Amino acid sequence: MTLLKAALDVRENAYAPYSHFKVGAAVRGASGRTYTGCNVENVAYPEGICAEGGAIAAMVAAGETELTEVCVVADCPDPVTPCGGCRQKLAEFGRHDVKVTMATVSGKVLEATIGELLPAGFNSRHMDRG
Ligand code: THU
Repeated sequence: MTLLKAALDVRENAYAPYSHFKVGAAVRGASGRTYTGCNVENVAYPEGICAEGGAIAAMVAAGETELTEVCVVADCPDPVTPCGGCRQKLAEFGRHDVKVTMATVSGKVLEATIGELLPAGFNSRHMDRG
Protein backbone atom coordinates (compact mmCIF):
# COMPACT_ATOMS: atom_id res chain seq x y z
CA MET A 1 0.00 0.00 0.00
CA THR A 2 1.37 3.44 -0.85
CA LEU A 3 1.81 6.07 1.84
CA LEU A 4 -0.85 8.19 0.11
CA LYS A 5 -3.37 5.35 0.16
CA ALA A 6 -2.63 4.70 3.84
CA ALA A 7 -3.19 8.40 4.61
CA LEU A 8 -6.42 8.50 2.60
CA ASP A 9 -7.72 5.39 4.38
CA VAL A 10 -6.95 6.57 7.91
CA ARG A 11 -8.43 9.99 7.15
CA GLU A 12 -11.82 8.28 7.04
CA ASN A 13 -11.46 7.66 10.79
CA ALA A 14 -10.71 11.28 11.68
CA TYR A 15 -12.76 12.64 14.56
CA ALA A 16 -13.44 16.22 13.53
CA PRO A 17 -16.94 17.20 14.71
CA TYR A 18 -15.88 20.81 15.35
CA SER A 19 -13.84 21.78 12.30
CA HIS A 20 -15.35 19.18 9.96
CA PHE A 21 -11.87 19.10 8.44
CA LYS A 22 -10.65 15.51 8.32
CA VAL A 23 -6.91 14.92 7.95
CA GLY A 24 -4.98 11.69 7.44
CA ALA A 25 -1.25 11.19 7.79
CA ALA A 26 1.12 8.31 7.16
CA VAL A 27 4.81 8.06 7.96
CA ARG A 28 7.29 5.41 6.93
CA GLY A 29 9.67 4.26 9.63
CA ALA A 30 13.30 3.37 8.89
CA SER A 31 12.23 -0.29 9.08
CA GLY A 32 9.94 0.25 6.11
CA ARG A 33 6.79 -0.12 8.19
CA THR A 34 3.97 2.38 7.76
CA TYR A 35 2.28 4.19 10.65
CA THR A 36 -0.89 6.21 10.36
CA GLY A 37 -2.77 8.87 12.28
CA CYS A 38 -5.83 11.08 11.92
CA ASN A 39 -6.85 14.25 13.68
CA VAL A 40 -8.77 13.71 16.91
CA GLU A 41 -10.56 16.82 18.11
CA ASN A 42 -11.94 17.63 21.55
CA VAL A 43 -14.70 19.87 22.84
CA ALA A 44 -11.90 21.65 24.72
CA TYR A 45 -10.41 22.77 21.41
CA PRO A 46 -6.71 23.02 22.33
CA GLU A 47 -6.76 19.38 23.42
CA GLY A 48 -7.24 18.15 19.86
CA ILE A 49 -4.38 16.36 18.16
CA CYS A 50 -3.24 16.57 14.56
CA ALA A 51 -3.02 13.65 12.17
CA GLU A 52 0.77 13.96 11.88
CA GLY A 53 1.21 13.82 15.66
CA GLY A 54 -0.93 10.69 15.79
CA ALA A 55 1.12 8.95 13.11
CA ILE A 56 4.37 9.87 14.85
CA ALA A 57 3.02 8.62 18.19
CA ALA A 58 2.08 5.29 16.58
CA MET A 59 5.59 4.97 15.14
CA VAL A 60 7.27 5.67 18.47
CA ALA A 61 4.89 3.34 20.31
CA ALA A 62 5.94 0.59 17.90
CA GLY A 63 9.58 1.14 18.84
CA GLU A 64 10.81 3.29 15.96
CA THR A 65 12.31 6.76 16.23
CA GLU A 66 13.28 7.59 12.67
CA LEU A 67 10.94 8.40 9.83
CA THR A 68 12.00 8.37 6.18
CA GLU A 69 8.91 9.63 4.38
CA VAL A 70 5.69 11.47 5.24
CA CYS A 71 2.31 11.94 3.57
CA VAL A 72 -0.58 14.10 4.72
CA VAL A 73 -3.94 14.47 3.01
CA ALA A 74 -7.14 16.45 3.45
CA ASP A 75 -10.13 17.55 1.41
CA CYS A 76 -9.19 21.11 0.50
CA PRO A 77 -8.62 23.26 -2.60
CA ASP A 78 -4.84 23.12 -2.22
CA PRO A 79 -2.65 20.51 -0.54
CA VAL A 80 -2.74 20.70 3.24
CA THR A 81 0.54 21.77 4.83
CA PRO A 82 1.44 20.69 8.38
CA CYS A 83 0.91 23.23 11.16
CA GLY A 84 3.94 24.73 12.87
CA GLY A 85 3.82 22.34 15.80
CA CYS A 86 3.68 19.33 13.51
CA ARG A 87 6.67 20.62 11.52
CA GLN A 88 8.64 20.64 14.76
CA LYS A 89 7.44 17.11 15.56
CA LEU A 90 8.43 15.87 12.10
CA ALA A 91 11.88 17.47 12.50
CA GLU A 92 12.35 15.59 15.77
CA PHE A 93 12.21 12.23 14.00
CA GLY A 94 13.13 12.95 10.39
CA ARG A 95 16.25 14.30 8.69
CA HIS A 96 16.00 17.62 6.88
CA ASP A 97 15.98 15.87 3.49
CA VAL A 98 12.99 13.64 4.27
CA LYS A 99 10.25 14.09 1.68
CA VAL A 100 6.82 15.29 2.81
CA THR A 101 4.02 14.73 0.32
CA MET A 102 1.00 16.96 0.89
CA ALA A 103 -2.12 16.10 -1.04
CA THR A 104 -5.77 16.80 -1.56
CA VAL A 105 -8.38 14.06 -1.72
CA SER A 106 -8.97 15.04 -5.34
CA GLY A 107 -5.34 14.43 -6.29
CA LYS A 108 -3.43 17.72 -6.13
CA VAL A 109 0.04 17.07 -4.75
CA LEU A 110 2.74 19.30 -3.28
CA GLU A 111 6.15 18.02 -2.18
CA ALA A 112 8.69 19.56 0.18
CA THR A 113 11.37 18.37 2.56
CA ILE A 114 11.15 18.70 6.31
CA GLY A 115 14.00 21.23 6.09
CA GLU A 116 12.04 23.35 3.62
CA LEU A 117 8.97 23.25 5.85
CA LEU A 118 10.92 24.19 8.97
CA PRO A 119 13.92 26.33 8.04
CA ALA A 120 15.97 27.55 10.99
CA GLY A 121 14.00 25.36 13.35
CA PHE A 122 14.85 25.01 17.00
CA ASN A 123 17.04 21.97 17.64
CA SER A 124 19.13 20.38 20.38
CA ARG A 125 22.28 22.27 19.33
CA HIS A 126 20.65 25.47 20.54
CA MET A 127 20.92 24.09 24.05
CA ASP A 128 24.69 23.53 23.82
CA ARG A 129 26.66 25.81 26.10
CA GLY A 130 29.94 27.27 24.85
N1 THU B 1 -4.98 19.43 11.19
C1 THU B 1 -4.21 18.31 11.10
O1 THU B 1 -4.55 17.26 11.66
N2 THU B 1 -3.07 18.37 10.38
C2 THU B 1 -2.68 19.45 9.64
O2 THU B 1 -1.64 19.38 8.99
C3 THU B 1 -3.49 20.67 9.63
C4 THU B 1 -4.61 20.69 10.61
C5 THU B 1 -6.25 19.33 11.92
C6 THU B 1 -6.30 19.98 13.27
C7 THU B 1 -7.79 20.22 13.43
O3 THU B 1 -8.40 19.04 13.90
C8 THU B 1 -8.27 20.46 12.01
O4 THU B 1 -7.26 19.95 11.15
C9 THU B 1 -8.53 21.92 11.68
O5 THU B 1 -7.45 22.70 12.01
